[in-house]
Amino acid sequence: MAHKGFTLWFTGLSGSGKSTISERVALRLQKMGLPVEILDGDIVRTHLSKGLGFSQEDRDVNIKRVGFVCQLLTRNGVPNIASVISPYRAARDYNRQKIKNFVEVYVACPVEVCAQRDVKGLYQKAMAGEIKHFTGVDDPYEEPFNPEITCHTDKESVEESVEKVVKKLQELGYLS
Ligand code: ADX
Repeated sequence: MAHKGFTLWFTGLSGSGKSTISERVALRLQKMGLPVEILDGDIVRTHLSKGLGFSQEDRDVNIKRVGFVCQLLTRNGVPNIASVISPYRAARDYNRQKIKNFVEVYVACPVEVCAQRDVKGLYQKAMAGEIKHFTGVDDPYEEPFNPEITCHTDKESVEESVEKVVKKLQELGYLS
């Protein structure tokens, strides 16, 4: 059976909920019988982007690599999910131009809430100055101007965010 390829591009601060929502969306898509691949920042950075740091230049290289893989999958009909901070608008928009059926999901959450969650303990280190160039602390995050979907994870449940994403995919005609 042929599938329609698309890229769900999750962008947002560390700890905003990108991985949680994207994993749940992937499960939903798999239950519909779709093959789906996830490119998650933490995992990509141990393989495809091993050795890259967090300067703007390195982040842009990382984002272009992820986008390149998404492009290959999408054009072959494999739905895929990128879950990366991708703090720079220009790099995200570059991928939007390259990738057919690009759906941007802004996972919005105030930095104070992300820092309070601090699942990986990185905000504490960044605030103590032990990690430099940490997004939202001493490095920029450029919000998307026109994302297809915005999930406010400080106000909505994971299930509500997942529903929003699935509904939009239906509206766009990517799910039969
Ligand atoms: S991106 O900016 O290039 O898109 P990516 O999503 O791949 O970032 O990786 C972010 C992950 O790296 C974070 O979730 C966090 O675990 C870790 N990390 C380590 N150092 C930093 C930093 N300086 N800024 C942001 N994330 C960092």
